[in-house]
Amino acid sequence: MSAAEYKDDLALAHRLADIADAITLDRYQAQDLVISTKPDNTPVTDADRATEQAITVAIAKERPLDGIVGEEFGNSKEDAQRYWVIDPIDGTKNFMRGVPTWATLIGLVEKSSDGSERVVVGVVSAPALSRRWYATLGSGAFVSFANSQPKKISVSQVNSIADASIAYSDFVGWNSKLSSFRKLLDDAWRTRGYGDFWSHMLVAEGAVDVAIEPSLALWDMAALDIIVREAGGKFSGTNGIDGPFQGSGLSSNGKLHSKIVEILS
Ligand code: IPD
Ligand code: CA
Ligand code: CA
Repeated sequence: MSAAEYKDDLALAHRLADIADAITLDRYQAQDLVISTKPDNTPVTDADRATEQAITVAIAKERPLDGIVGEEFGNSKEDAQRYWVIDPIDGTKNFMRGVPTWATLIGLVEKSSDGSERVVVGVVSAPALSRRWYATLGSGAFVSFANSQPKKISVSQVNSIADASIAYSDFVGWNSKLSSFRKLLDDAWRTRGYGDFWSHMLVAEGAVDVAIEPSLALWDMAALDIIVREAGGKFSGTNGIDGPFQGSGLSSNGKLHSKIVEILS
């Protein structure tokens, strides 16, 4: 498919993000927010569930042949040629404590006849930050802020670790790579635990140079992958294999990518 052919899918992804924003903003900082604990011991709110449900209904209506992979309600139509990947709220712990760094992540994945898969559309909507990032394959990456015109974004040009700003979430989940990770941070110019989608969108904007997390699901990464790539960067697992399918996430401006993979290997 050509870039122009994803225009309708991007328009739908924006409509899905609008639906999500209306629900999440209404429930953000609500006194009666209902929080429960999932079997994996992580929290989920009524807003996470209502958002994914509303997005799922809209996709079923507008793209009845497409599959869905959602964090809260799982997969549907697993043999579909294309599927939408939904994280209704990325940063639920921020959302439930009143920290504004949370977002709805919407990605569209296309399967090829050779069995490979790639993300072709991504929208990251962070309404409490008044920001939305988006990209389609071959058309660049953009950010819109409040009601201003969308701005094309691109990654930084920094090419040494000593000059690099590195974003991460925290020190959990690094296991045997923890000491290499700490050394990487020690060697960098600047480090900050911005966390979640935010670290990766700052890479796409060129505000930081690397974002890294050791343990993530497809829904945490699908939308981020295409936005970082379309901004001129690279997205892979921490093992260096391209794409959001590796169970970990490494975004960079491209220039630093192989150095980071080598340090963590
Ligand atoms: C979480 C975020 C976070 C990562 C966690 C995820 P959620 O997503 O992506 O960066 O460290 O593993 O669960 O639960 O807030 O959607
Ligand atoms: Ca997430
Ligand atoms: Ca989530």
